[in-house]
Amino acid sequence: PYVNTKDILEKANKEYYAVAAFNINNLEFLQAIVEGGIEKKSPLIIETSEGAMKYAGMGDPLRGASLFVKMVREFADSLDIPIALHLDHGKNFNHIISAIKAGYSSVMIDASDKPLEENIKATKDIVRIAHAVGVSVEAELGKLAGIEDNVVSAESVLVNPDEAKYFVEETQVDFLAPAIGTSHGAFKFKGEAKLDYDRLKKVKELTNMPLVLHGASSVVQEMVEIAENYGADFGGSKGVPSDILKETVRLGINKVNTDTDLRMAFIAGLREFLHNNSKEFDPRKYMKTAKEYVKKVVSDRLELLGSANKA
Ligand code: G3H
Ligand code: 13P
Ligand code: NA
Ligand code: ZN
Repeated sequence: PYVNTKDILEKANKEYYAVAAFNINNLEFLQAIVEGGIEKKSPLIIETSEGAMKYAGMGDPLRGASLFVKMVREFADSLDIPIALHLDHGKNFNHIISAIKAGYSSVMIDASDKPLEENIKATKDIVRIAHAVGVSVEAELGKLAGIEDNVVSAESVLVNPDEAKYFVEETQVDFLAPAIGTSHGAFKFKGEAKLDYDRLKKVKELTNMPLVLHGASSVVQEMVEIAENYGADFGGSKGVPSDILKETVRLGINKVNTDTDLRMAFIAGLREFLHNNSKEFDPRKYMKTAKEYVKKVVSDRLELLGSANKA
């Protein structure tokens, strides 16, 4: 069934596991994610960025959002596993309203680059509108920047736990993304991967709500190697290792945002297939290995985060 993201995350919070939230831009990634979810009997959170909404709608974000809702609902309505659709990093008020209007189950208002009181005001506005129509809301505190790159200024870019408590009381958001040292993309750490566990622990103690880890991709080595065997150059790429992810789940993370790992799995499979099948031009065939690799990464992640058999 198609569900509210809040329902998936409150269960995860009570039972100490996390659900991966997978970014999509098109049908093929959605199919691969759904296959992984069915195989693992796991709840699923599908998310799209504002950029994905514009891409799918050929420049019209409301049209894109409506297409995503139709696609996701079509699968969700006919399957036993709970599936939610979430707007990731909503920054533009009109885009957030478009997602709500189109029928998303939750939205993120990302005003984390603004001063605290402005972030609170922008978040409150969205919470009021979203909650009136049964849509749940995620917000973010702190900035996504690797600790290693910001040794000196770590205090100023990572979440302040006391602020987090104040923020959720003021805004009434349903889940919160505290910055604890991750960053988006395939190049997260220059040296050793390291997150601020103490900060995460404090935020959980003070808010006791579902927490979200952004920039959580692991940069799966097997996929990097396959992609590089067939022409890619991902030198210097590094993600959040599995054991660190597991520790963040133990400390209270319940939603684990994942985009980069799926993109890399897809390109690994696509490159491999095209290299080995120079006469093929049917997209249903040349995307087969790519989708298989995305499904594998999805399944592995659902298992690791503890959401397998929680549907
Ligand atoms: O947080 C960013 C997501 O990985 C999606 O980014 O704007 O490239 O779609 P995007
Ligand atoms: P990754 O780039 O680590 O996959 O992070 C995705 C994300 O945080 C989407 O909001
Ligand atoms: Na999000
Ligand atoms: Zn993110």
